[in-house]
Amino acid sequence: MKRHGPMWMTLMGAMIAAAPLAAQQKDVAKAEEAGVAHPDLWPEAQSPGLVDSETEAFITDLMDRMSVREKVGQMIQGDIGSIKPEDLREYPVGSILAGGSSPPLNAPDRSGPKPWLETSRAFNEVALEEREGHVPIPLMFGIDAVHGNSNIVGATLFPHNVGLGAMHDPALIRRIGKATAEETAAAGIDWAFGPTLAVPQDERWGRAYEGYSEDPDVVRSYAGQMVLGLQGEPGKGTIQNGRVAASAKHFLGDGGTKDGIDQGDADIPESELIRIHNAGYPAAIEAGVKTVMASFSSWQGVKMHGNKSLLTGVLKGRMGFDGFVVGDWNGHGQVEGCTKTNCPVTFNAGLDMAMAADSWKGLFDNTVAQVKSGRIPMARVDDAVRRILRVKAKLGLFNHARPYEGRFRLIGSPEHRAIAREAVRKSLVLLKNDGVLPVKSSADVLVAGPGADDISMQSGGWTLSWQGDGNTREDFPNAQSIYGGIAEAMKAGGGSATLSVDGSFTKKPDLAIVVFGEQPYAEMRGDVRTLEFQPGDKEALALLKKLKGQGIRTVSVFLSGRPLWVNPEINQSDAFVAAWLPGSEGGGVADVLIGTPDGAPRADFTGTLSFSWPKTAGQFTLNKGEPGYDPLFPLGYGLTYGEDGHLPHLGEVAGVDASLANSSLFFAKGKVPAPFAAAAEGVRQQPTDSQDVQEGAIALTWPAGAGGTYRITGPELDLSRETNADILLQMIYRVDTAPTGKVTLAMGDGSIDVTRLLDKSTGGWQTMRVPLKCLRNHGTDIEHVRSPFAITAQGPFAMSLSDLRLATDPAGAACPD
Ligand code: BGC
Ligand code: BGC
Repeated sequence: MKRHGPMWMTLMGAMIAAAPLAAQQKDVAKAEEAGVAHPDLWPEAQSPGLVDSETEAFITDLMDRMSVREKVGQMIQGDIGSIKPEDLREYPVGSILAGGSSPPLNAPDRSGPKPWLETSRAFNEVALEEREGHVPIPLMFGIDAVHGNSNIVGATLFPHNVGLGAMHDPALIRRIGKATAEETAAAGIDWAFGPTLAVPQDERWGRAYEGYSEDPDVVRSYAGQMVLGLQGEPGKGTIQNGRVAASAKHFLGDGGTKDGIDQGDADIPESELIRIHNAGYPAAIEAGVKTVMASFSSWQGVKMHGNKSLLTGVLKGRMGFDGFVVGDWNGHGQVEGCTKTNCPVTFNAGLDMAMAADSWKGLFDNTVAQVKSGRIPMARVDDAVRRILRVKAKLGLFNHARPYEGRFRLIGSPEHRAIAREAVRKSLVLLKNDGVLPVKSSADVLVAGPGADDISMQSGGWTLSWQGDGNTREDFPNAQSIYGGIAEAMKAGGGSATLSVDGSFTKKPDLAIVVFGEQPYAEMRGDVRTLEFQPGDKEALALLKKLKGQGIRTVSVFLSGRPLWVNPEINQSDAFVAAWLPGSEGGGVADVLIGTPDGAPRADFTGTLSFSWPKTAGQFTLNKGEPGYDPLFPLGYGLTYGEDGHLPHLGEVAGVDASLANSSLFFAKGKVPAPFAAAAEGVRQQPTDSQDVQEGAIALTWPAGAGGTYRITGPELDLSRETNADILLQMIYRVDTAPTGKVTLAMGDGSIDVTRLLDKSTGGWQTMRVPLKCLRNHGTDIEHVRSPFAITAQGPFAMSLSDLRLATDPAGAACPD
């Protein structure tokens, strides 16, 4: 924790220090050798099914004929967003990937399986060409098939791992792995970048939902089963029988970074790295996992992509891993002394294949030179190439028969969707039930909330797009929303379901089911600073209160990638269900929530928490077994219908300083939320109605002949990570009197001229989006922002402001100047 950081960081530091965690204890004795592992402390394991003399002889023969360029090529992977099939003639890279935002050839990013299969074939055709001085070797094509083959339109979307953890059902995990493999192989893809074996310890981490549990035992019990599902039995599963290679990730300690910061540093003792974060790896290796992905993160300040003691000494040595280690997205470039196009130390540390997404060309040239000069020993290259060719051979890639390719009926097939629906059913965790569940299917229910009929929200990140944003209903042909499932079940019981996102109705319903939660996010953008749900603008709470106020009982279905502090929302609900990120099968929710016409259960709750649920928004590292463990709901909690589900009124004090909770919302519902405040100089302020809220906006008037500024200030914010993640400042406004002089919008010291933009805005409410990058380019010191917003004008000019916040924009906004 930086001692001289901004106020909120200092406060957070104090809070963390107050929690007496083993995680905070530094291994003082080993300080001088930070980041160096001691293999003999680690568990031993073996990699079955990868090494056999026949395959090794086949590889030796191939390698005898390969040039240095061809060998180095095997060690490099390019992303299809920046490599074309014809590039392979000059740069014989051995693998390609489709990053979350990378489209297949000649088709949009959101495409069904056909363009993906054609892409795979187009690249392989060049790789397998008979050419002078070229040894034809099949490519290996990887994708983030992390909750089903989730980057492909029409695929079955299984619950994200946070939900699967709540099932405690390793056998079902294996069936999910197999179904995912079949949908991946059918689209011509050989390799799934999963399972994620992170053991998240601080749920502020935006990737917490990619982990099965905070509990190493749960992760251990799933790791091998997921690998067996994806890959088949060791030595047997091949692409010919619809299996793909798996990738256990991210090795190691991704779930243990300080403050839950993505790609951060796990500053923990080796014993903890072994006990908690390594839990799943021996099981994955014993199940024959073919690849392991190195983590972006560091251990004791040393980037994993450069950590020889862990990649070579522990993983390949002590734990006997015979497959290959792939890097993460340009992750090698973060190693000290490296750039993304130049990094001999990563290969020397034990990385076998670099994910040189857009840097493959430069990295290839530099690596070839470094092998020729001896900077990277030939023996290391031979070891890496042997491991890669071994995996390709054992996966069946040298056998060109591909019976699964083109079996598109497997993608989103009824059989696979039934498995996903079963998983949804089993992952639901009942946290409160004041006698409203199960819902009588003869009743009339209102289905409300932003998540009621939104497949994007129920699917989360790593769905069709990288962050899971920008998707529309049409992008999910094989999916059912939560409302869709409820409507079906109610109809079957003789009742009815009415969809009303904002909760309004004409005829008073018997009950309301309110579906709300987090909007989709993935790495980096999902990181938060406290565990408070909707800090600042409690929209869901307002909806629940509105319904309660009208005498309607409510069932909350909470969609989230992690447990969050929702005490106020729980208090306003008669029943509360954690549904995580269930994916394409919203029907699984109705299977459990909606009973028979008389209200007897059709299926009971069996899910229990695989992450502890916080009592305050400041319990960042709330993990079972820690001293002082005091959750609202402990690990393993989950009610069934037979139990009394009444809860007393819960405390509504978030327990964190508002300045920690809110760092992104500057104006909403007529107010400047804490910790921000507004000051006006030479500007008249008056409440006015916004589009939907009475007095939900503020009218600002600059009198004729004078200049003035309306400014919002607060504690210092470091927005550098938000800036890199393409976050923007979003303002909803209305021009009431067109500008007569210059109008500037500022953040800190940087300002842009928005006169023309405002001049063009007529009458109604408009949205302006200003990328933080744009403000940085105009002089904002993005690491030290004390005033996130100011507007300066010459009178006469008048505008109204109804909403101001940091937001993402899937379409990507340009600088408005
Ligand atoms: C993520 C990996 C992912 C890879 C490819 C990285 O940014 O950390 O989990 O597999 O991208 O998309
Ligand atoms: C890609 C992701 C990748 C990320 C890493 C994105 O553009 O689509 O797959 O994980 O970059 O920063």
